[in-house]
Order: sequence, then structure tokens, then C-alpha cells
Amino acid sequence: MNSAASTAKRIVIFASGAGSNAQKIIDHFRDSDISVQMIVCNKPQAGVLSIAEREGIPTLLIEKERFFRGDAYVPVFRDMSIDLIVLAGFLWKIPQALIDAFPRKIINIHPALLPKYGGKGMYGAFVHEAVIAAGEVQSGITIHYVDEHYDHGDIVFQTACPVVEGDTPEILAKRIHELEHAHYPRVIEELLTTKR
Ligand code: GAR
Repeated sequence: MNSAASTAKRIVIFASGAGSNAQKIIDHFRDSDISVQMIVCNKPQAGVLSIAEREGIPTLLIEKERFFRGDAYVPVFRDMSIDLIVLAGFLWKIPQALIDAFPRKIINIHPALLPKYGGKGMYGAFVHEAVIAAGEVQSGITIHYVDEHYDHGDIVFQTACPVVEGDTPEILAKRIHELEHAHYPRVIEELLTTKR
């Protein structure tokens, strides 16, 4: 085995929204030993699919029935020998079969300081609305391993930003997105290149 083969890592991104985090991850790993093998999505109209098409990355549009009551696509990901599944704005719960097949190999990013403002229904603008309504003076991002509960597994990285007077959910979302873009690709790289 040559050294290039032994250091090469393969990731799959699960995303179902605009895909700004997916884009940053793709940009970060362009021409590197870490390759984005596939974008997995559950919404046919999601912006992230246009990003995948432009970038020439294969996509997999998953079906609810197979994901939750079938094989959860485990054989597909096993065949690809992936090193990390990266959730970036993917809102479906991850089935137990997939968690069992990839222990500590699935991570998620959440746009708040977990354990606060997490759980079912807490995503995107709903998170920022709740943070502002509660009068929090700071929010932030959390990158964590995925377990069987929403927004719950061991935390890998957190960082905060201020919430200031007059912030709307849109303004706060922009500040949070900037944090996500600055840190998620770097944290993914660290997870893949340092022995844990
Ligand atoms: C991100 O802010 C991410 O933290 C959030 O969805 C957004 C996706 O944005 N995820 C959650 O709320 C998960 N509970 P993007 O499509 O532009 O990357």
C-alpha cells in the first residue's frame, strides 16, 4: 500500500437545505486526501443538490421507507468504505442501524450551544427565534457525535458568539453560519487526521 492510499479518507455529507456548510466542506477538501464521495439528501428541491451537480459529486436521494423501515442504506455506505458521515443541515433522525454500522463515525452540527436549544423541531430559524425570545446574551455552534437521540451525542467542539440587542433570527443565523463555516471543515479534518 502506498502512503497516498493509506492516508486517503472518504466522507459522505448528509444535507437537505441550502448547503452552505456542504459547500465550505467541499471547498476545504478540494485537491486533498480527503474526498467528498457523495451528498445524501431527502428533499428533491434542496439547494445542496445544485451544489453537488456543479461540483460533480454523486447524489443519493433517500426514501423515507427504506431509511427508517428498511436497511437504512447501510449496504450502500459499507460498500463505499467511508470514514465519516457528516450531517450538515440534515433534519431526519439517524436510524439505529446506521449508528450501529458506523459507531462514532457520524457527526452533526447544531446552530446553538447544546444541550440548550436542541431536540426535535429545533432546527434553523426555530433555534434562533427561541434563543432570542429567551433573552440569551450568547449563542453558538455545537459539533457532536450522533447517537439515537436528537442533538445529543458526545460533544466534539463548541464555540460561542454574542447575541446582541436588536438581533433578528436572520441576523443571528448569519452570525452562526459564519462560525459554522469557519470551524466545521477544520474540525472534520482534525477528526480524520488525528488518532482518537
Ligand atoms: C445549519 O445552520 C445547521 O447548523 C442547521 O441547519 C443549517 C443548514 O444550513 N442544522 C440544524 O439545525 C440541525 N438541528 P446550510 O444548508 O446552509 O448548511
